[in-house]
Amino acid sequence: MKNYLEKIKYNMTTYIKELGNSEILQLFQSIESGKMVRSQIIQLIAEKDDKNVMAISSIVELIHLASLLHDDVIDNSDTRRGKPSINATEGSKISIMLGDILYSKAFFELGKFDYELVSRISSAVIKLSIGEIADVKLSDHFNNDEVLYLDMIYNKTASLIETSTAVGAILGNKDVETFAKYGFHLGMAFQIVDDILDIVSTSEELGKPAMSDFLEGKTTIPYIRLWHWLNDDGKRYLESLHKKELSENEKSWILVSLENSGALRQAKDLARFHSKSAISLIKDYPKLVELAEKLLLRGF
Ligand code: IPE
Ligand code: MG
Ligand code: MG
Ligand code: MG
Repeated sequence: MKNYLEKIKYNMTTYIKELGNSEILQLFQSIESGKMVRSQIIQLIAEKDDKNVMAISSIVELIHLASLLHDDVIDNSDTRRGKPSINATEGSKISIMLGDILYSKAFFELGKFDYELVSRISSAVIKLSIGEIADVKLSDHFNNDEVLYLDMIYNKTASLIETSTAVGAILGNKDVETFAKYGFHLGMAFQIVDDILDIVSTSEELGKPAMSDFLEGKTTIPYIRLWHWLNDDGKRYLESLHKKELSENEKSWILVSLENSGALRQAKDLARFHSKSAISLIKDYPKLVELAEKLLLRGF
């Protein structure tokens, strides 16, 4: 697998080299690579690493990277994968345009594939963007609606993972429905764990300031569950802290309340539910089981 991911990195770099611009190549190469979960699942489901599987993996990784370049601008995030983000070092304008370049090259390469793959991946990118817009809009005020939150994380995160698993199944002639469901649950677990980690991790572990979601206005599921548990005074107090630079006392009130109310445990339970649902669909694929388990463990 390590070897496969190295090949994907090489492929992505080749795509960027083909653009013929050294400045863009340099910027691209300055970005730390991530876990490449989407490539891993595509290859594990397709059970081969031929030219098509590698190209689709590389395309999906380019799309994911483009979405992160835009996401860090949207979230005012100065760090990504433990390093200063492109928007922190080069500014938001560069980060947005680099994202656009990665999207365009990814779609150019995708254009060489059948209509079904093109259509599925482009739908996922539209959902991702709709999800990012919903995330921004929900952050205007304290959102206490769990259905809106779940719909938003499905769009912004689970949709591309669901599509990656479906595409892996198409390339490997497997049952698309089953693997798409696996991807759906994996994606939901992935984002819920990401939202939990924002609360429970230290800034060093995260590679970005802890509890930055709430400061950005994002009331992720632990906050939503806490809000519903609090009495009226508690609800008003929590709302008053929304989008504010928090003092240590305020931070610890939130953390203690998240623990005492059971809100954090409930969020973990929901992540566990999605992870278990994912696993139940692909029991015959030990590596896919392991991937879902590892992902869950990050948050516990
Ligand atoms: C959205 O989630 C990521 C994308 C779908 C682009 P977050 O905004 O929570 O992601 P992180 O925490 O910055 O990685
Ligand atoms: Mg973000
Ligand atoms: Mg975001
Ligand atoms: Mg996050």
